[in-house]
Amino acid sequence: MSKTSALRVVGADDAATTAIPNDLAAFWMPFTANRAFKARPRMVARAKGMYYYTPEGRPVMDGTAGLWCSNAGHGREPIVEAIQKQAAELDFSPTFQYGHPKAFELASRIASLAPGDLDHVFFCNSGSEAADTALKIALAYWNVRGKGSKTRLIGRERGYHGVGFGGITVGGIVPNRKFFGSLLAGADHLPHTYNREKQAFSKGEPEWGAHLADELERLVALHDASTIAAVIVEPMAGSTGVLPPPQGYLKRLRELCDKHDILLIFDEVITGFGRLGAPFASERYGVVPDMLNFAKGVTNATTPMGGVIARKHIHDAFMNGPEHVVELFHGYTYSAHPLACAAGLATLDLYRDEGVFDRAKALEPVWADAVFSHLKDIPGVLDIRQVGLTAAIDFEPSKDGVGKRGFACIDQAFFDEGLMIRTAGDTVVVTPPLIISETEIGELVEKVGRVIRATA
Ligand SMILES: Cc1ncc(COP(=O)(O)O)c(C=O)c1O
Repeated sequence: MSKTSALRVVGADDAATTAIPNDLAAFWMPFTANRAFKARPRMVARAKGMYYYTPEGRPVMDGTAGLWCSNAGHGREPIVEAIQKQAAELDFSPTFQYGHPKAFELASRIASLAPGDLDHVFFCNSGSEAADTALKIALAYWNVRGKGSKTRLIGRERGYHGVGFGGITVGGIVPNRKFFGSLLAGADHLPHTYNREKQAFSKGEPEWGAHLADELERLVALHDASTIAAVIVEPMAGSTGVLPPPQGYLKRLRELCDKHDILLIFDEVITGFGRLGAPFASERYGVVPDMLNFAKGVTNATTPMGGVIARKHIHDAFMNGPEHVVELFHGYTYSAHPLACAAGLATLDLYRDEGVFDRAKALEPVWADAVFSHLKDIPGVLDIRQVGLTAAIDFEPSKDGVGKRGFACIDQAFFDEGLMIRTAGDTVVVTPPLIISETEIGELVEKVGRVIRATA
């Protein structure tokens, strides 16, 4: 058989677009156990509202909002229509030295959602690019301010900032770092904020742990503030299993960054656009960072888009020198892609018109009660963490090794319960679309309970 025919996976007619592919080899899947997947594919072909559908038409409840990104659920008509219209009107235009109206409109809309003087938006295409963009802006900022010795970047253990070299340097997930050489020079890390002994089964933000922000003082004592450019943290660390910030922690971090003239970057790629019941976690916690990274929910995940919102003083520091000279040598071909901008505007309209962020806020106590009351007493459950519409359930690993039971949960959920979940080792993570109903919350939590029991 020719290579071409072996790789021809679906036909052109409508019926075939939901057919099961006949060859899975070519796609090297990201963050996936490829061989296990290809032996037993968890395939979805369509999505609407709270549900995915397999190629055979079996519904699979979306317990993860895709990858924490489809906040308003799937297949939302106003967003779909806006993308279709935009593709016909202006499919692409560069944003290097040229502009298109929707890029400016969307930047203004996003800036107006962000607190304080987070007024200027730099667009990119993903959370990983947002991390590298913010870190580069931080370094360049100190340069243009005449403090070029401030180059050190501080991240946090268990943090996730995507997969670019900047992001994995400040990130704190061991397998994401250990295969990739020496990373960027001169980075350091704050300790993570999780301690099961002190925090187990806290609803929302744990009481214990604000003092861990003081570890920044230790790093300043070690390296000297004159060498430190920025601290980057997720307000709530998502990828390592939902670690809500201890009460007062983020305020303390802000104070210490101010004291030592260090920029504070919040990575809100997950927490932005309603996940914690506010446009941004920054608002929930009453802390304004110097830069705020977003992606995912900005377009309800319909098109790739990310960005960095910078405070006025950061942006203005660059607006110097001859006016014909580029102020920041950074950008992507697809920064502010017209389709993404159209999707973003339609998404923000929909969030506003349906009160999606307020809805998430109102649902949080219902969600928390459902998760704790259904899952806490299952034998072998070691901890439950929850904040906003997120929850993580830690359970005892199987005798066969760490992560085996977690992996079994993904299969069990998909094939036996019709549910999509995320796992981090032996932790199940659920983060549904913010349009979930109270009845669906009950169903989701019961499904998760059965999955955890079945894999014990
Ligand atoms: C906090 C955070 N930052 C960055 C990223 C990376 O985003 P992307 O996968 O769009 O590059 C993620 C992805 O989950 C994330 O959770």
